[in-house]
Amino acid sequence: MKSIKDQDNLNQKKILLRLDLNVPLRNGLITDETRINKIIPVINYLLGKKSKIIIISHVGRPNGKKKEELSLKPICENIEKKINQRIKLIKDNIFKLKRDDLFKYSNDQIVFLENIRFYEGEEKNDVSLAKHLAGLADLYVNDAFSCSHRSHASVCKITEFLPSFAGLQLVTEINALKKVTTEIKKPITCIIGGSKISTKIGLIKNLISKFNNIIIVGGMANNIIKYEGNQIGKSINEVNCDLMIKEIFDTLKNYPCTITFPEDVLTGKNMDDKSWVKKINDIEDDDFILDIGPKTLNKIQDIIENSETVLWNGPAGYFENPNFANGTYGIAKAIIKKNRNKSIYSVVGGGDTVAAINEIKVKENFNFVSTAGGAFLEYLEGKELPGIKALN
Ligand code: 3PG
Repeated sequence: MKSIKDQDNLNQKKILLRLDLNVPLRNGLITDETRINKIIPVINYLLGKKSKIIIISHVGRPNGKKKEELSLKPICENIEKKINQRIKLIKDNIFKLKRDDLFKYSNDQIVFLENIRFYEGEEKNDVSLAKHLAGLADLYVNDAFSCSHRSHASVCKITEFLPSFAGLQLVTEINALKKVTTEIKKPITCIIGGSKISTKIGLIKNLISKFNNIIIVGGMANNIIKYEGNQIGKSINEVNCDLMIKEIFDTLKNYPCTITFPEDVLTGKNMDDKSWVKKINDIEDDDFILDIGPKTLNKIQDIIENSETVLWNGPAGYFENPNFANGTYGIAKAIIKKNRNKSIYSVVGGGDTVAAINEIKVKENFNFVSTAGGAFLEYLEGKELPGIKALN
């Protein structure tokens, strides 16, 4: 994999820069800027080399449809302030855009294309979208490690049409995760939570052989609670997962790995509600499960206390409402406590998880903070990520 740092003469070269600016947004406001802060170095590097930069990113899951609330506008404005330079956000249909339409004035150095997932072709890894994008530039740089597990046009197909390079943050992330996976000390605990159930549930089975403890919290735990014969009310869950869960429990019989999932939970009648502690067999039809309960948190804290390494992706609950933040912050505190006396190696990854630890200002207490969630877990699985393979 060639890094953009190895490429000479970037002067006046038009560079398609794929970033993952999929940051949490609430009412159009960015609630966590970590992913933005991490890519400022690559932008500054390319600006310093006098390249012309065309930024591509997605935010959210618009499913190939234009959705104003998922515009990259607030993110573009945030970056403008950080680099103190005007950036033009191009909202026109990409297919109508020609190479010479960009950088018309000699001091234009950076443009932003609107959310690439507004185009159906992106998630289909479509050749015509990739070719069209490639026609706008001379080189391609992927600095989006956190979406390199997606076989999408601006991550994979594009590399067939342009000389392609790894960005600075992507190289940092891969080197750090390589170190984690080769120098890892047992017992290893992997905590998986969050709401992207479909992305994660399928890979748990493959993690069983690698870890001593797998802790399942957040939305994914709801599927297991349901599989065990309990009601989950109105809580998020994924359909057709029973076979996958059965395979997880079957695989577990062959390895010295323990899976932990909630014994009690915090529920509310809506997302803004107060919280009630409930046993998992007491959930009512109109309940939302929004956090783990105190008993479960105690159990998880004990497991962390007895671990040498902890890898964590995905919050334990809807921490955006403080009434449901106890599980997530409780997990963070248990890791930090062990980190203080250097008796644990901790890696945390994923947009929401990093947002949660930023909220309580404890990011510095983890050994490595990855911007990646799904990509981080797939990397741990030992899979070659499609976006990285494409660069190779
Ligand atoms: C992420 O936040 O993990 C990446 O941006 C990928 O997003 P996705 O899960 O919607 O593909």
